[in-house]
Amino acid sequence: MAGGNSDIEFIKKGKRLDGRKPDELREVRIEAGVLNRADGSCYLEWGNNKVYAGVFGPIECHPRHKQQQDRAIVQARYTMAPFSVNDRKRPGYDRRSSEISYITSQALERVVMVELFPRAAIRVDMQVVEAHAGTRCAALTAASVALADAGIPMRDIIPSCAAGKVSDTVVLDLNKEEDNYGQADLPLAIVPSTGEVVLLQLDGHLTPDEFEQAFDLAYKGCMDLYDIQRAALANRYGGSA
Ligand code: CDP
Repeated sequence: MAGGNSDIEFIKKGKRLDGRKPDELREVRIEAGVLNRADGSCYLEWGNNKVYAGVFGPIECHPRHKQQQDRAIVQARYTMAPFSVNDRKRPGYDRRSSEISYITSQALERVVMVELFPRAAIRVDMQVVEAHAGTRCAALTAASVALADAGIPMRDIIPSCAAGKVSDTVVLDLNKEEDNYGQADLPLAIVPSTGEVVLLQLDGHLTPDEFEQAFDLAYKGCMDLYDIQRAALANRYGGSA
């Protein structure tokens, strides 16, 4: 998106149009184990975003030609409900949801102990029911919690958060107006225990300095998300976050 509409004054007196400071996240609420039919699940609200994630597996991998002899594959599927956006979205898969599903699968395969389940599939379905920018980060963050809730062995859980640029200022966690009319958007996902980057995309333009600033801000956002993810799991299973 990142249309770069410089006519909009996104920051006035140090505050953004929704009242946040440049380095402030929207409010995030995460609940684990919200669906009875899935092996593991999560509901996440992030600003006006609302996302469900449900996990099934490990199960036998279909179609069979996708089976890997030495490991499981993570089959993540991101979809948006028709009523999740302003103009009713045509139901089903499109290029954007295929791309997000692919990058999410790739990221999750870095933390799931896939080597324990040869020839299996672990299905992760992410359904966006309300979208307000940052839904790929929201979906991946929810998917990690749902996988942990399903008891899938993992090295860590993945938090994901974007930073970007509006009115020539680097800001954390763009909302819809900032995403659609701002200058850049940089979604990031990390493995907190190792610092490994498992997703990094850039829409728009940033100078090398701005990129570093945005990366650091998004990284810090991920660490804040990580605390909320762990608190959600601790809340369901007891123990401390
Ligand atoms: O959601 P995310 O920021 O990860 O992805 P995006 O492709 O940058 O989309 C930004 C936002 O545009 C989405 O969160 C939706 O609010 C909106 N959008 C839409 O209104 N209709 C679509 N078909 C796709 C996205």
